[in-house]
Amino acid sequence: MAKNNDQYAVFGNPINHSKSPILQAAFAEQTQQAISYSARCIDVDKFNTAADQFFSTGGKGLNITVPFKLDAFNYADQLTARAKRAGAVNTLIKKDHYIMGDNTDGVGLINDIKNNLKWALSGKKTLVLGAGGAVRGILEPLLSAKPELVVIANRSVDKAEILAGSFCDLGNVSACSYPELSGCFDIIVNGTSASLDGKLPNLSRDILHSNSCCYDMMYANRDTIFMQWAKKNGATNTADGLGMLVCQGAESFYQWRGVYPETYEVIQKLRLQL
Ligand code: ATR
Repeated sequence: MAKNNDQYAVFGNPINHSKSPILQAAFAEQTQQAISYSARCIDVDKFNTAADQFFSTGGKGLNITVPFKLDAFNYADQLTARAKRAGAVNTLIKKDHYIMGDNTDGVGLINDIKNNLKWALSGKKTLVLGAGGAVRGILEPLLSAKPELVVIANRSVDKAEILAGSFCDLGNVSACSYPELSGCFDIIVNGTSASLDGKLPNLSRDILHSNSCCYDMMYANRDTIFMQWAKKNGATNTADGLGMLVCQGAESFYQWRGVYPETYEVIQKLRLQL
């Protein structure tokens, strides 16, 4: 693309694994937006310097990935309500006189579930596994979708209780440990990082019914261990987090460009490259 295109980038460390350049290029092509987008590996103690330099030389927006989401939260001059709730920023947007910090992870999950997978969330009994940063990032958009209830289950139950307390003004949300789980759920979202180590929390199959929809926020080139567990125990609807990744990027693109790209085909294209 030409040098005078609007400049965007993703900051992270490491950054080689990032799929953001591929998906943002796909969105730009699809919507005929002339942008340039690069991946930049930033020294862990140089986030502010790198962001200052990027924006002062005309940069229009950044995606932020590990380990800088908290740095970006502190860097932003203003925060969207969902970024405040998430306590983390994955998108920075250059406005006329300030930098806006947003978090599109949660809405990415919800849009993938509603628009691509066509799973209903409204009125559903919903279980979220895990109570770390990834789960904090999805709770506001999840509760906005008006589930009947949200249970947050975590190995360290105190962390789940703190999260439930922080979001209880937005809906019916409670906390428990894995052994305390009772009844079955329509939607189960795995937000633990356990699958990165090939592990699963100790879950009873009784939390599933045959129409339960099981979503893993992680993705891989085959079924994740959580999806395997769900299928083995009779769940017919399972998905991994590749769609969430694409949809969070689509929301960032929308915040920068004011145009909402189609995500379904981009997910299929990325899937083939895993
Ligand atoms: P992230 O940013 O990915 O959310 P995090 O904030 O470190 O990372 O949170 C990791 C989550 O995965 C936590 O809910 C953690 O449970 P604890 O709070 O009890 O530590 C969960 N997790 C990680 N490994 C796990 C395992 N082997 N079994 C169950 N839960 C696990």
